[in-house]
Amino acid sequence: MDIRIRVAQPEDLAELYALDQACFVPGIAWSKAELAYFLRYPGNFGLVAEDAEPAIVGFAIGGVLRRRGVLTGRLITIDVREEQRRHGVGRELYTAIEEKLRAAGAQAVVLEVAVDNAVAQEFYSRHGFVPTGRIPGYYLSRIDALVMEKPL
Ligand SMILES: CC(C)(COP(=O)(O)OP(=O)(O)OC[C@H]1O[C@@H](n2cnc3c(N)ncnc32)[C@H](O)[C@@H]1OP(=O)(O)O)[C@@H](O)C(=O)NCCC(=O)NCCS
Repeated sequence: MDIRIRVAQPEDLAELYALDQACFVPGIAWSKAELAYFLRYPGNFGLVAEDAEPAIVGFAIGGVLRRRGVLTGRLITIDVREEQRRHGVGRELYTAIEEKLRAAGAQAVVLEVAVDNAVAQEFYSRHGFVPTGRIPGYYLSRIDALVMEKPL
């Protein structure tokens, strides 16, 4: 699939919000205010994947934080439009996020994923992530999160 990755702009917010709502059930999907907060939080960045139209087919948000004194990348989400899945859009987005995290000096990438989200777990395993922990009731106070990490 012919896609281009670019930096998310403030005017993308409504479309990214709609895509996130389509990807996750209420209570796991973010509010527009949360999404705006993640996108502008210092050290975070958003990337958008566009097709030839150009229409947004996916986006990802990452960031860098200091964890136990070590610069660590955080993958906040990757969302790909359902009709465009399994064409490598997620891979392109993740690769671009990882490049940015490496450039920022991150030593590892960490993320949380719902224990019942087998597709995302498979996607992350494919990219070299391994489970390192579990957070009880992280989503909707009843679905555990699997913590997955990848050293860079
Ligand atoms: C997870 C997600 C981002 C993957 O995006 P994608 O564009 O479909 O992923 P890719 O096409 O780049 O797939 C890369 C690899 O991931 C794995 N993978 C992706 N979708 C899969 C599926 N449905 N079943 C099994 N493995 C899958 C495969 O190993 C795949 O490689 P392959 O196609 O050569 O077999 C997408 O399914 C999505 O947006 N899901 C909903 C939102 C979500 O759960 N995001 C993660 C939040 S933690």
